[in-house]
Order: sequence, then C-alpha cells, then structure tokens
Amino acid sequence: MPTIDGAVVLVTGANGGLGTHFVHQALERGAAKVYAAARTPKPWDDDRVVPLVLDVTSAASVAAAAEVAHDVSVVINNAGAANGATVLGDLTAARDLFETNFWGPLVVTNAFTPALRASGGTLLNVLSVLSLDRDR
Ligand SMILES: NC(=O)c1ccc[n+]([C@@H]2O[C@H](COP(=O)([O-])OP(=O)(O)OC[C@H]3O[C@@H](n4cnc5c(N)ncnc54)[C@H](OP(=O)(O)O)[C@@H]3O)[C@@H](O)[C@H]2O)c1
Repeated sequence: MPTIDGAVVLVTGANGGLGTHFVHQALERGAAKVYAAARTPKPWDDDRVVPLVLDVTSAASVAAAAEVAHDVSVVINNAGAANGATVLGDLTAARDLFETNFWGPLVVTNAFTPALRASGGTLLNVLSVLSLDRDR
C-alpha cells in the first residue's frame, strides 16, 4: 500500500461520499494531519483530523481556509455537485454546476499553490469519466 507518512492532507467535501473515504485513507496511509474541509464541518473522532470551513464557491471562504491550512502537503479537490443541469432553457443550474465543479477546484488550487510549492506537495483532482475527451 503506498504511504504518505507525515503528510498534511486537505480534503474538500470531506463530510460524505468519497471525501470521507479520502480522510480515512489518508490516516491509514500515515498522514500526520488531515484537514476535513466542508461547508458545514462535522466533528471527527480522531485528533489528527481538523474540521475546517471551506465552500469552494466562495473565494473568501477558500482564502480563509488556505490561511489556516498553510502547512498542507497534499490537497484533494474532491468537492463536487450534480444538480441535473441541462444546457437548453434556464441556465441557472448549469452556472451553479460550473461554480462548484470547474471554478471551485481552480480557486482552491490557486489558493493552496503557495503552500504546496513550499512543501513540494501534491494536488489531486477528483474528476468524472465525463471529463475525458474520447476523440483523442
Ligand atoms: N459518485 C460518482 O459516481 C461520481 C462520478 C463522477 C464524479 N464524481 C466526483 O467525485 C467527487 C465526490 O463525489 P461523491 O460521489 O462522493 O459525492 P457526494 O457524496 O455528493 O459528495 C460531494 C461532497 O462535495 C461537497 N460540496 C458540494 N458543493 C460544495 C461546495 N460548494 N463547497 C464545498 N463542498 C461542497 C458536499 O458537501 P455537503 O455535505 O456540504 O453537501 C459533499 O460532501 C465529486 O467531485 C464528484 O463530482 C463522483
């Protein structure tokens, strides 16, 4: 099993689904600390887990989280949404989706790049198979 001994990991969208598994996997693989970031953080029963407020659609929220978690060495862009958006008619839902799934990870990446550069760290983006360009 690959290890990340001593790493300081941040997971966006950590409250459920894949995000929660990333938190547990990071701990199992030797992370020293895991920031479990969420819009409404929940308590965790492990001292190595630090709940952190982070809404990927809010630049202010992301900036505040980056200030707190300045020691990260692994950032996992996991937060994402699916809202049934269509590309015809009212585009409100499609815009919301791009705010969360496209601009969100970019804003997070920009905010945490200084810390990742300083630690020589790693960025992991969780995407969908729909992201693949099958023509190439
Ligand atoms: N499951 C699949 O089949 C599948 C397929 C393709 C891609 N993915 C991608 O995999 C990732 C994880 O998906 P999942 O299946 O684990 O989904 P999930 O259970 O719905 O978890 C998504 C998490 O993202 C969080 N989130 C949503 N909007 C956010 C925001 N504005 N700021 C911060 N957090 C936000 C949610 O937080 P709240 O608790 O606050 O709602 C939730 O904890 C997503 O990026 C998703 O697009 C999943």
